[in-house]
Amino acid sequence: MSFHLRKWRAKFAAGERLVCITAYDLFTAHLAEACDPDLVLVGDSLANVVQGEVTTTPVTIEQMAYHGRIVKRALPERFVVVDMPFGTFKLTVEDTVRNGARLFQQSGADGIKLEGASEVNLTAISRLVEAGVPVMGHVGLQPQMVRVLGGYRRQGRSEDEAERIMWEAQALAEAGCFAVVLEMVDLELAARITRSLPVPTIGIGAGPGCAGQILVIHDLLGMLPGKVPSFVVKYAELLEVGREATRRWGEDVRQGSYPPAMTQGDGKALGKPRETEPAAGK
Ligand code: KIV
Repeated sequence: MSFHLRKWRAKFAAGERLVCITAYDLFTAHLAEACDPDLVLVGDSLANVVQGEVTTTPVTIEQMAYHGRIVKRALPERFVVVDMPFGTFKLTVEDTVRNGARLFQQSGADGIKLEGASEVNLTAISRLVEAGVPVMGHVGLQPQMVRVLGGYRRQGRSEDEAERIMWEAQALAEAGCFAVVLEMVDLELAARITRSLPVPTIGIGAGPGCAGQILVIHDLLGMLPGKVPSFVVKYAELLEVGREATRRWGEDVRQGSYPPAMTQGDGKALGKPRETEPAAGK
């Protein structure tokens, strides 16, 4: 068992709440590091928050591996997990196993995550775990299924849906997943699943009854314009802070106060702003 998995299991056994967060590049990896994360997920939310896509389906396995490598390079000591993107799993067991092993190897991450608990997924997960790949499950709202689900709505409100999600989470744990993400699952159901599972549940919009929590770092820190999901509490407005700084810099350049006077080592101040004159003919 890897060092990361041993630590992960020990913390869960000790009843500690697990802190998980997403990252996609050097900047977000260094921001993520500040919460002393138990797990850093290179989520396929990359499509939304980095690539500007409306859904997560366009992101490719090559792009996930590329961003996984960047985050792992930035955080070599952290437990880094990469999402399998749409179309690379669930279709056949063979493809799922081959793509899972490939993503694990090419990203250099410590594990992979995939959405759903179909028969194909469950068989492939057992084979991947047997082959040495730590796998994280994901049930409830599955963003890759949003076009079939008909929107981003809370999952597990009806008895049938609740029973299915409970079964899926348990089946994923039995197949060998080291954790199961519960996304936008009914809060009471999420707490029940958490109590019934031998591995941690990691909630996103699933309430305080989960064993740990995860958020998309751009939502947490206010890094993008527009709305964030209703369950997100923003801890900063980074976009505003950054915009204000760039606005001031632009103004300084226009007024000639940037760059400041400099020397070239001989003590003589250089760099008086260029005299600006109106263009000829004006
Ligand atoms: O893609 C992602 O970022 C995720 C988390 C939000 C759980 O799957």
